[in-house]
Amino acid sequence: MDYKIAIAKGDGIGPEIVESAMEVLDVIGKIKGHKFIYKEAPVGGFAYDLYGDPLPLESIKTCKESDSVLFGAVGGPKWDNLPGDKRAETAILGLRKNLETFANLRPGYLFKSLKDASPLKESIIGDGFDILVVRELTGGIYFGEKGYKETENGKAAFDIEIYSEMEIERIARIGFEMAMKRDKKLTSVDKSNVLESSRLWRKVVEEVSKDYKEVSLNHMYIDNAAMQVIRDPKQFDVILTSNIFGDILSDEISMITGSIGMLASASIGKDKKGIFEPIHGSAPDITGKGIANPIATILSAAMMLKYSFGLEEESKMIEDGVAKTLEEGYRTSDIRGDGDWIKTGEMTEKIIKTIQKM
Ligand code: NAI
Ligand code: MG
Repeated sequence: MDYKIAIAKGDGIGPEIVESAMEVLDVIGKIKGHKFIYKEAPVGGFAYDLYGDPLPLESIKTCKESDSVLFGAVGGPKWDNLPGDKRAETAILGLRKNLETFANLRPGYLFKSLKDASPLKESIIGDGFDILVVRELTGGIYFGEKGYKETENGKAAFDIEIYSEMEIERIARIGFEMAMKRDKKLTSVDKSNVLESSRLWRKVVEEVSKDYKEVSLNHMYIDNAAMQVIRDPKQFDVILTSNIFGDILSDEISMITGSIGMLASASIGKDKKGIFEPIHGSAPDITGKGIANPIATILSAAMMLKYSFGLEEESKMIEDGVAKTLEEGYRTSDIRGDGDWIKTGEMTEKIIKTIQKM
C-alpha cells in the first residue's frame, strides 16, 4: 500500500535524525512491499528564515493532507530572541493544536542491553521497567492565557493553567484504553493539594475510571511522582498527566532509560493521523557533528507504522532491529556506559543491516 507522510525536519539535529528514520522506513517498505511517499513541510526556524513564519499555512496543509507526520525538532539560539508568536517552538505547539492531537504517548522503557547505561542501581532496575506516559497535549498552562500586568511590585508576567472537563475526560479515556492493553494499572499525576485545575482533573479521572473497572487507579502528586520514578520505576505502568507535568516527567524518565536520544513519542487525537517525534529537542550543541542518536526518531517512525497505518509487524521489525543493534554493543555517544561508539550514519546503517538480516 501507499502511505503519504509529511516530513517536518525542523532545526538543529532535526534533519539528520529524520533522514535516518526515512532510510529505515524505506528499507521496511522494500521488504514488506509498502511505498512511503514523503512531502516536506518546512517548520521551525528553518521555515521562519524562508517564509517569516515558523509554521506556514502551506506546511499545515501538507500535514493535514498526509496520512501522518514525522517531526524532527525545532528551535535553536539563532531564533531565541524572536517575539513569542514567531519563536521556532510555536511550530510544534501550533501543529499539535491544528491537528488536534491532544494525547501524547511517551513510552519509557529500558532496553535489556542498556541496563548499565541507566544511572539507576541494578538493585532498583531488576529485570527492567516499561512505563507509558500519557500526557495531555493541547491544553493546560502551555495554551492558557498569558501576558503581562502591573502589580504593586511592578511589572509581572503570568501563564494560566486551565483545563475543561471535556479535555480531561478525553485524555483520561486514552490513558485507561492504553492501560487496558498493558498491565491494567494507571497512575494519575497531579498537584491537587494546591491547584484547583488538578482537583478537577482528579475528579474527572475518578469518574472515567468507573468505565474501566479492571484498571487499578491510583493518584500521585507530581513532586512525589518525580521522586518515585527514580526510587522505584517498576511500580508504574501507565502514567496519566497534564501537559506541563508530562513534559518534565517524561524527560526525567528518558534519563533513567540511558539517554534522551532513545525516547520516541506519538501525538494522537481523534483519527489515526498523528505527529511522531522524538521527545528531545534540536540539540544545538551537537548539530552538524553527525553524532546525534537517531534511535528516538527511528522508534517514532515505528510508532507511526503501528498507530497510524496499523502495520504492527513492520513496527515490531524496527523495534527488534534497534534492540538487537544495541545488544551487539553499538552506541551513540549520548548513551552512558560502555560500548562501541558510533556516529548517526553508522548507527542507522547498523540498524538497517540488522533488520535486513531478520
Ligand atoms: P535538547 O533535547 O535539544 O538537548 C538536551 C541535551 O540532550 C543536549 O545536551 C543535547 O545534545 C542532548 N540530546 C538531545 N537529543 C539528542 C540526541 N538525539 N542524540 C544525542 N544527544 C541528544 O533540549 P534543549 O537543549 O533544552 O533545547 C534545545 C532546543 O530545542 C531549544 O530551542 C528548545 O526549545 C528546543 N526543543 C524543541 C523540542 C521540539 O521540537 N519538540 C522539544 C524540546 C526542546
Ligand atoms: Mg520537553
